[in-house]
Amino acid sequence: MSFSTGWLELREPYDLRARNMSVIEAVAAALAGRPSVTIVDLACGIGSTLRALRPRIKSWQSWRLVDNDLSLLARTPQSSPPGVHVATAPVDLNLDLEAALDGPADLVTTSALLDLVSDEWLERFAVEAAVRHLPVYAALSYDGRIEMTPADAADGKIVAAVNAHQRTDKGFGPALGPAAAKAAVERFGRVGYSVVQGMSDWAFEPKDRDIQIEMLSGWAAAARETGDMPLPDVIGWLTRRRDLVVAGRSFIRVGHVDFFAWPTATR
Ligand SMILES: C[S@@+](CC[C@H](N)C(=O)[O-])C[C@H]1O[C@@H](n2cnc3c(N)ncnc32)[C@H](O)[C@@H]1O
Repeated sequence: MSFSTGWLELREPYDLRARNMSVIEAVAAALAGRPSVTIVDLACGIGSTLRALRPRIKSWQSWRLVDNDLSLLARTPQSSPPGVHVATAPVDLNLDLEAALDGPADLVTTSALLDLVSDEWLERFAVEAAVRHLPVYAALSYDGRIEMTPADAADGKIVAAVNAHQRTDKGFGPALGPAAAKAAVERFGRVGYSVVQGMSDWAFEPKDRDIQIEMLSGWAAAARETGDMPLPDVIGWLTRRRDLVVAGRSFIRVGHVDFFAWPTATR
């Protein structure tokens, strides 16, 4: 599955605002006092997590940004402020997760990835992180909650279709979709990690027109692909929703979960 630079640029400010500060503070506290830290960011896109976390960590930082999309990797920060070193690594995380985790690392990060992966891959991730004693910060996993205001009679069917589409294969086997965050917290608990988690919902206001239009179009496309709704119903819903956005009357909340998991067993 590919993601456009335009989409990742559009969502980044909303992601930044949504990221759960208690979870970020737990990450920063876990790294506090170290002169230097090495961080591996899985499925980095254009570097959103690097930009979100960099100012929160006071140590000298070395980041390894991993993604399988070369055009996104090319748009990650090419220069970095003093005390921050950034390198990129093209890796298919379905094939070579272990290679991405190998080498020196003090923290693994990811954002907007876990809802794309399968239960099997998640298990593999938890086990591979645990054998390396790696703490994991995973932000912005979609949790299935979508609220649109004002309500439309077709919202429920669209949300059900979107959540069904979320569970289709995104390159890692059948995706966990909305179940990902809960499953991940359980998995890391089972391999001996402590976990702090918190909500990181997107809250779009009427002025956030571009991202609302993009989201609604994506949801309509997903509903169409599932075939769960007659096409005229999908088109009618999208038309009414877009009209509300254009009229400056649309509020949308999309549920996400962030967590930080760290191994409690001693080396
Ligand atoms: C929703 S985007 C999130 C990007 C970034 N973490 C962010 O929050 O902006 C999902 C990312 O997963 C990457 N991705 C998807 N499948 C992958 C795979 N098999 N191996 C490595 N990266 C993958 C995509 O290229 C994309 O950058």
